[in-house]
Amino acid sequence: MSNLDGLLSARARTARSSVIRDLLHLLEQPGMLSLAGGLPAGDAFPTERFRLACDRALSRGGPYGAAALQYGPTEGVGELRDLLARDARSLDGRTEADEVLVTTGSQQAIDLLARTLLDPGDAVIVERPAYLGSLQVFAAAGASIESVPSDEQGMCTDALEQQLRTGLRPKLCSVVPNFQNPSGATLADERRVHLAELADRYGFVIVEDDPYRELRFAGSDVAPIREHTELAVTLGSTSKVLAPGLRVGWLCAPAMLRDALVRAKQAADLHTSTLSQYVALDLLTDEPFLRAHIESLCSCYAERCGELADALDVELGERCEFTRPDGGFFLWVRFPGVDTSSVLEAALRVGVAYVPGAAFTTDDSCADRARLSFASLAPEQLREAARRLGEALPGGRAVATTPS
Ligand SMILES: Cc1ncc(COP(=O)(O)O)c(C=O)c1O
Repeated sequence: MSNLDGLLSARARTARSSVIRDLLHLLEQPGMLSLAGGLPAGDAFPTERFRLACDRALSRGGPYGAAALQYGPTEGVGELRDLLARDARSLDGRTEADEVLVTTGSQQAIDLLARTLLDPGDAVIVERPAYLGSLQVFAAAGASIESVPSDEQGMCTDALEQQLRTGLRPKLCSVVPNFQNPSGATLADERRVHLAELADRYGFVIVEDDPYRELRFAGSDVAPIREHTELAVTLGSTSKVLAPGLRVGWLCAPAMLRDALVRAKQAADLHTSTLSQYVALDLLTDEPFLRAHIESLCSCYAERCGELADALDVELGERCEFTRPDGGFFLWVRFPGVDTSSVLEAALRVGVAYVPGAAFTTDDSCADRARLSFASLAPEQLREAARRLGEALPGGRAVATTPS
């Protein structure tokens, strides 16, 4: 196939595969307990309610007629945009329906923003650690990726200001404000305000990538960054609250970006699946269902988070450090003195998987970290996964061999 290699574009040749996707084949070993993927709890999908929503979307005499199987507007189905705008407005006080673009998952929203804003070599700011999917998009766009350290309060905006003062001029800054992937941190209110001020002062777009907002099981809500500046684009998704297979996400963008984003979306896929959009609309407009469903998801994830955290305390004690998140899917665990990439093979051998911290940075600052997802395993599996981690990691009961 080497003669075809010459046909690949420079972009395709340099595109990195996601570390998590590369691991997936190993995860299929029987008995493997995976803390690696960021998958929602499959047993919590509201399948019966989905069946009803599909029936309604596909019934000619139903509320949506034949529209669910027809081509639709690139911007998204009107009723869905109205609903999403209303929800966004209740948080940021100002989003209108014509600022909402329905996307094929929020991952597409990140890609469309990169296509719309970035030329090769343009600087983008990400958190350290950063969401892998945005690192992939920005790398594919040929951007110069600059990272800013984060702590338990999210991105350290003082450090960002320092970088801006010394001449860094980014086109955009990407943050996951609630229960960040992978760190679990929530960006503190005063840092949201500060970040918004920096965007206004230095003229860059903030990508407020917020798929986990509803999955809060401790603490209280923090106002979105979009409340503080017109330069924020907020992304949302049905993936974590309904089901990722639906592939319905959205962005709320300032009017000045709207036309360019719609053109980019048109070139990418004409529009997001109308069937998925009507199914999402049916589910999102059923308030009693939605409220009860989100409540039960939050208590499920709260329990799972607590189980994994308690089990790590028992099994690893001082061999690990972490902060318990207020929501989302992830524990961001530090194993002092351990290179988590080198230990991964030993962990897989004893039947537990995680994502090494190095995958979430462009440097080696998180080499002793691992992202552990508590979302998709049952409590007893989480306890067993922690036991296996204790076995695989140096200092554990069994001697872990270091892979060559
Ligand atoms: C922070 C973040 N952004 C975006 C996405 C993409 O989600 P989707 O495209 O399913 O909406 C994910 C998925 O894990 C995520 O964690």
